[in-house]
Amino acid sequence: MYQLINFTVRGDYQGNLVPIEAEKDIPFKIKRVYYIWGTDYNAVRGHHAHRKLEQVIIPIAGNCDFILDDGKKRETVHLYSPNQGLYLKHNIWREFTHFSKDCVVMVLASEHYDEGDYIRDYEQFKKEVAK
Ligand code: TYD
Repeated sequence: MYQLINFTVRGDYQGNLVPIEAEKDIPFKIKRVYYIWGTDYNAVRGHHAHRKLEQVIIPIAGNCDFILDDGKKRETVHLYSPNQGLYLKHNIWREFTHFSKDCVVMVLASEHYDEGDYIRDYEQFKKEVAK
């Protein structure tokens, strides 16, 4: 349903650094980057799947939970490490919640923003993955 990608931490006694190189550290060409912060602990974002889009999701600060659903089962992944990315392929329903106050989530995406790629209705998602 998902993979975790471990990034190599560079840096020294003064602090940490993670370099991410397109097409080397990420399994697709990055076309878009966005980030999410300032989300309430109890807010639940997402509630969608993508028909084509692939993403790597990195909690560059703080932590949060990703609830993932492939149409057959549900799993919660706790994201907390700035050197670990959650790699999601298409057709995975996701909801994300339990954001720590300092949480900043950076998303690397394989496509430009396209509302037509979203499945925002859970019953429609179930229909599409059953095909
Ligand atoms: P949405 O994907 O619904 O956010 P979330 O799943 O995190 O709750 O996007 C929120 C709004 O931002 C929506 O109006 C679409 C817009 N948006 C863009 O314009 N470009 C983007 O790359 C993304 C991800 C969202």
